[in-house]
Amino acid sequence: TLVKISDDALALAGGADKLAKAFEAKGCEVHRTSSWGMQWLEPMVEIDGKGFGPATLDDVDAILDGSSDKGIGVIAEHPFIARQQRLTFARAGKTRPTSIDDYEDTGGWQAWKRVRTMEPAAVIEEVLASGLRGRGGAGFPTGIKWKTVAEAKSDRKYIVVNADEGDSGTFADRMLMEGDPYQLIEGMAIAAYAVGAQTAYIYTRSEYPHAIAKMEEAIRRAEPIISPLHMEVRMGAGAYVCGEETSLLNSLEGKRGEVRAKPPLPALEGFMGKPTVVNNVLTIAAIPHILAEGGAEEYARLGVDRSKGTMPIQLAGNIKHGGLFEVAFGLPLGELVNEIGGGTFTGKPVKAVQVGGPLGAYIHPDQFDLVFGYEEFAAADALIGHAGITVFDESVDMGEMARFAMEFCAAESCGKCTPCRIGAVRGVEVIDRIRTGGRQRDVLELRPQMHNTTKDKGREAAEEVGLLTDLCETMKFGSLCALGGFTPYPVMSALKHWPQDFFGESEVPA
Ligand code: NAI
Ligand code: SF4
Repeated sequence: TLVKISDDALALAGGADKLAKAFEAKGCEVHRTSSWGMQWLEPMVEIDGKGFGPATLDDVDAILDGSSDKGIGVIAEHPFIARQQRLTFARAGKTRPTSIDDYEDTGGWQAWKRVRTMEPAAVIEEVLASGLRGRGGAGFPTGIKWKTVAEAKSDRKYIVVNADEGDSGTFADRMLMEGDPYQLIEGMAIAAYAVGAQTAYIYTRSEYPHAIAKMEEAIRRAEPIISPLHMEVRMGAGAYVCGEETSLLNSLEGKRGEVRAKPPLPALEGFMGKPTVVNNVLTIAAIPHILAEGGAEEYARLGVDRSKGTMPIQLAGNIKHGGLFEVAFGLPLGELVNEIGGGTFTGKPVKAVQVGGPLGAYIHPDQFDLVFGYEEFAAADALIGHAGITVFDESVDMGEMARFAMEFCAAESCGKCTPCRIGAVRGVEVIDRIRTGGRQRDVLELRPQMHNTTKDKGREAAEEVGLLTDLCETMKFGSLCALGGFTPYPVMSALKHWPQDFFGESEVPA
């Protein structure tokens, strides 16, 4: 019997290795494939296209003799999979990640072969025509970025793939690197060909050891195919701000991960001062599909308004059916959370959803008709970021979440600019004063008798809210990069939608 079990980090954490050994001990042939992305079912066992999960060692016999109650039927027909439009994750669950034969048998390298019969400028034109925008969050048109690098005069150019993936609730870059490393390699090779780069780096985090190992193995095997392009994986040391492109470039150069002022744009003066394409994993991984015959037109047909193609959305947090859901832009947020995600894991009502990482706005269920798209989210003072959706049930304290955003910014600030470096520290203090009725939280914990009267608390709270609003405005417009600039979004959205979570026993000011 051929048994497929994923070797994705999430499946491994659930005991996939032991499970694979148990099936082998029963005489089965076991293929370690990528994950389908139905995380609540991992580790999942696949036999003849049918899935069983989450499987434990106790389920092995029953799965083999057909009496298991963990069956989910034909995986490809499961509603979670059948509703998706998988382009970037087309191979998810189906191939062995580092098998170059599996990659080739499923259409791998076709775009690479085609591209080399084309002029580099024609390659860029197809990327432009596809409408592909940066999947790291800012949504800048990829073709324009590539064109800027291609037209820059320089003896050396670089491709840098941003695989730092620091946002809460995101795992698509990791899944892609662990599950389909050759697709990323093919995308990088195409990018390098299009702009004339000689070297390509993948900058990722130390928390992704499996992704690093698989990428390195795949790069070794793909060397003859992508030669003379030189490719390397580089590991960061865990600072969130190193996901910001200029800070990433400093880190890659061996310097402190501090943000650089823009201009100059990395497209003109990036790695080692040379023209550099910095693109997210998902942006580059979309390239082989787009550059295959007819791919760009298909991509441009999908989506809504200026948000073209598909987005690998990551459903996480307190959610029943967490996992990877790749779909064309345009689905309402509520459908993603309640229908596809099945609501909260705890079964309690959804209180808030944060999209776009720790600096994304908190979205109230009243706004669940918001359509998934760059402009649509921006118009609602929110961002899709890297498309991580983190769900919270009614037990969450949104005042505490707002405090966490400021605390996170204070901890992760690179220290280069004042609104972020000092603003975030003051932000924590102001939120504490609002929540404790005018006293610093640490002082209050030591001397609870210092509580003001309810009336005083109400008056002071109104003043403090004014101060917090001013502070957020300063951070939003005065910060050098998105870390300081976006921290106000979770803070102000939490205050707007859940004021009662800020004011404790005191009255919510008008
Ligand atoms: P940005 O808008 O400054 O730039 C976007 C990209 O376009 C950059 O690579 C920039 O170099 C490039 N670019 C801009 N103008 C260009 C031109 N004329 N020619 C060529 N290239 C050009 O945004 P930034 O600061 O890079 O990122 C901010 C975004 O990051 C936010 O919108 C947010 O959604 C997202 N974000 C993502 C996180 C994650 O973990 N993925 C975390 C925090 C924020
Ligand atoms: Fe550094 Fe924060 Fe300023 Fe960004 S906003 S440059 S992280 S201090």
